[in-house]
This record gives sequence, C-alpha cells and structure tokens, in this order.
Amino acid sequence: PFVVTENCIKCKHTDCVEVCPVDCFHEGPNFLVIDPDECIDCTLCEPECPVNAIFPEDDVPAGQEKFVALNAELAKEWPVLTVRKDPPADAAEWDGKPDKLNLLER
Ligand code: SF4
Ligand code: F3S
Repeated sequence: PFVVTENCIKCKHTDCVEVCPVDCFHEGPNFLVIDPDECIDCTLCEPECPVNAIFPEDDVPAGQEKFVALNAELAKEWPVLTVRKDPPADAAEWDGKPDKLNLLER
C-alpha cells in the first residue's frame, strides 16, 4: 500500500482524496492517512500531493518508517474523506518543516 508521511501534517492539501478509486483516505484534525487494507496500489494519489508526502510503503524516505504503522493505526480511528477541502491558510509555511510529527493532532 501507499503511505502518507510527515510532510502532510499541517499542510493537508487533500488533493489526494479525489483520485483514490477505493476511497481509502481517512481524515484527522491536521493530517490524512491511507488505510493499508483498502489501498490497491493504483499509484494515482502519489503525484497529486503538492508537498510530496505520499510514498509506497516499501519506499518511504529515511526516518519516515514509523508512518507505515501510523497510517494503519489512525485509518481505523478516523473517518473517510473523499472530497477535497481547502487546505489550512498557512499550509505553504509548513511545507518541508522538520519534526512535524510532534504537532500531529489526534
Ligand atoms: Fe488510493 Fe491508489 Fe493512492 Fe492507494 S495508491 S491510496 S488506492 S489513490
Ligand atoms: Fe496530505 Fe498531500 Fe493529501 S498534503 S492531504 S497527502 S495531498
């Protein structure tokens, strides 16, 4: 499956959700995750993310490995999102900021 990684936190553009054919994105307060049990590896979401936060599970960037388990865990808790929303007003300022995992809201 594909995995949403750290750079989505506080950016949350949601362009990704519209292209997913199996509706496997789940939305939290400031982050989205992919349900690994639903993702069919179609690859369509990966290029849609303006901040390049989506990767195949076996090819996440170094240091982002914990996001594999986090996607699986949070997908069980958060509701499905299928329609794009406006991103946070300050999304651009958070693109590429380090250590955003500390800011993840549940
Ligand atoms: Fe959905 Fe395809 Fe992305 Fe998996 S790879 S989350 S099925 S759009
Ligand atoms: Fe996040 Fe990128 Fe989707 S910022 S909400 S993974 S388009």
